[in-house]
Amino acid sequence: MQNTYQIATLANKEDKTSLSFLSERVAKQTVKFHSSFKEYEPTPLHRLKGLAEYLGVKDIFLKDESFRFGLNAFKVLGGSYAVVKYIADKLGKTVDELPYEVLISEETRKEIGELTFVTATDGNHGRGIAWTANKLKQKAVVFMPKGSTQERAENIRAENATCEILEGNYDDCVRYANQMAEEKGWIMVQDTAWEGYEDIPTWIMQGYLTMAYEAYLQLTLAATKPTHVFLQAGVGSMASAVTGFFASIYEDERPIVTIVEPNKADCLFRSAKSGGITFVTGSMETIMAGLACGEPCTIGWDVIRSYTKHFLSVPDSAAAHGMRILGNPIKGDPDIISGESGAVTMGVVSQLMYRDDLKEIKEEIGLNEDSIILCISTEGNTDALRYRELVWNGLYPNDENLKK
Ligand SMILES: Cc1ncc(COP(=O)(O)O)c(C=O)c1O
Repeated sequence: MQNTYQIATLANKEDKTSLSFLSERVAKQTVKFHSSFKEYEPTPLHRLKGLAEYLGVKDIFLKDESFRFGLNAFKVLGGSYAVVKYIADKLGKTVDELPYEVLISEETRKEIGELTFVTATDGNHGRGIAWTANKLKQKAVVFMPKGSTQERAENIRAENATCEILEGNYDDCVRYANQMAEEKGWIMVQDTAWEGYEDIPTWIMQGYLTMAYEAYLQLTLAATKPTHVFLQAGVGSMASAVTGFFASIYEDERPIVTIVEPNKADCLFRSAKSGGITFVTGSMETIMAGLACGEPCTIGWDVIRSYTKHFLSVPDSAAAHGMRILGNPIKGDPDIISGESGAVTMGVVSQLMYRDDLKEIKEEIGLNEDSIILCISTEGNTDALRYRELVWNGLYPNDENLKK
């Protein structure tokens, strides 16, 4: 069934995977590395008091990743950390020995030689890799799936990268990028893992801990902790990093995590239902470009199956709803520009709270007047034209009017 809300819920697991690679100790390391960038600043965590009152929950917090390094999305955190880990390994150094100024220096460039990083992307990850490679004066080659918009490709080319839109879907692009890496001796920096390709995806997940750790510190400063966290997923690397970190830091008091995916690319929802990694194949047409991935990250899945409770497969309208409510807030709340993949969790929370037909799902997740909710707006208007078409005119990509 498509275009509806569906829920899958996992029973508590005894055989939980280790979280040592997503611990506070690692998070402190990634924050230290990212803090050495002159662009670094923690992104805001907004308390949406008006919306919480309106929806009938205790509190709503929203972390706004549109402010990340001027790149309008969180993804650069993972790519940049993976690149520094790769270079540190190659040079036999530690990440601590390679803060930003050293990393981009001519000496490091000479020591490491010429590199080409290659990746597949729906947009944000590739832009992060291109941005990092550009800072290092190294090359980046980026492949995007069919249907990717020119604006997203141009943002990548603006970082001096080669960017090509291919005929296949996201997972086809991943395979193609890997093939090119093998043929040409390029370095594949992919935000998903499979057997035999695990180091770089692990480092990417660890890079996302900077975001999770900031949120934890900001919540602690506000003298609170979330009861419910909603995380959007493509391959699930980001969701598993945040889930793993919160499980590690909050231990027995960890929040209930719900993973949110588009109906057309709900590979984690299907994996939860079937009890093992399950793929979605073919074209995955959704307005949530960043979440249009059909093959879960294997390392991420281990964390998710151990520590996540619920999985929601949701229609595109939930994302459009989220974009509108965040951009048109209740008086007193800030207005937040949130893109399709960024806004979907807030749209879901809102619809669960007010729609009668979703009451059973709301109750299964346990949302009520005592709930303290955390969502992450993982991107701003990374495609400004599409953002306007959706928010101003209510048009969807398949809408004939959008093609005019
Ligand atoms: C804006 C945005 N949010 C969320 C995600 C999901 O991240 P992951 O693929 O690690 O699940 C992506 C992935 O590209 C994204 O671009």
